[in-house]
Amino acid sequence: MTAKPVAPSPLPIDLKQERLPKHVAVIMDGNGRWAKQRGRPRIMGHRRGVDTLKKLLRCCSDWGISALTAYAFSTENWGRPLEEVGFLMTLFERVLRQELAEMMAEQVRIQFVGDLAALPESLQDEIDRAVATTQHNQGILFTVATNYGGRQEIIQACQAIALQVQRGEIVPQDIDETLFARHLYTADTSDPDLLIRTSGEMRISNFLLWQLAYAEIYVTNTLWPDFDQAEFHQALCAYQQRDRRFGKVS
Ligand code: IPE
Ligand code: IPE
Ligand code: MG
Repeated sequence: MTAKPVAPSPLPIDLKQERLPKHVAVIMDGNGRWAKQRGRPRIMGHRRGVDTLKKLLRCCSDWGISALTAYAFSTENWGRPLEEVGFLMTLFERVLRQELAEMMAEQVRIQFVGDLAALPESLQDEIDRAVATTQHNQGILFTVATNYGGRQEIIQACQAIALQVQRGEIVPQDIDETLFARHLYTADTSDPDLLIRTSGEMRISNFLLWQLAYAEIYVTNTLWPDFDQAEFHQALCAYQQRDRRFGKVS
């Protein structure tokens, strides 16, 4: 499959380039409800959700946002009906395969966070291939949280650090925020500046518990499959109005 060049969309004039978030994270929620509203099976919503994500990734890249992280599957999502979980795994695999050429053309560097070892092997293979193929790309860093849980991530970091102490490589006093963050899946990534959640839920559902400490949170009632460029523009406008104090006084 050859990737068709698409003209980049310009940054809307009411957004200030220098005040854009460097890293946007999204909780892509509401696929099931979107499908239900149309009397369709939930999987139709997931399928549509992929198109939304593709468009958002391109938009971030066009507007000069350097990182996008998307929550695709949580450690809790295994509790869904078997058919839905199976559909999602197959969908992830197919999308990765189909989109690799375009990611190369657009210089996207993809990475995954989460417990990948528990994913189907064929999906793991596709993940490895996409990560290896795009690793030297110079464009946007696109992180996909798959079988990701914030608590699980913190626990595996604790285990790795405890092992270092046990081996005498470090002493407990060496453990600080920098060392701890280096043991998270996101070791090489800056923290998100903006977290967007669609479908109106006011919660973070075990997403990036450590990394979201000072993210600006934007919740929209729009369901994920309907989250378009105009909606993203609105989220960025809201972000640019925020006063990020980081605990200080402005
Ligand atoms: C988000 O949409 C996608 C995943 C969790 C994989 P949902 O499937 O949670 O949709 P709702 O919340 O049931 O509408
Ligand atoms: C969060 O959505 C997980 C993803 C978007 C992958 P959920 O639909 O699983 O979250 P809850 O159940 O509403 O908290
Ligand atoms: Mg949901």
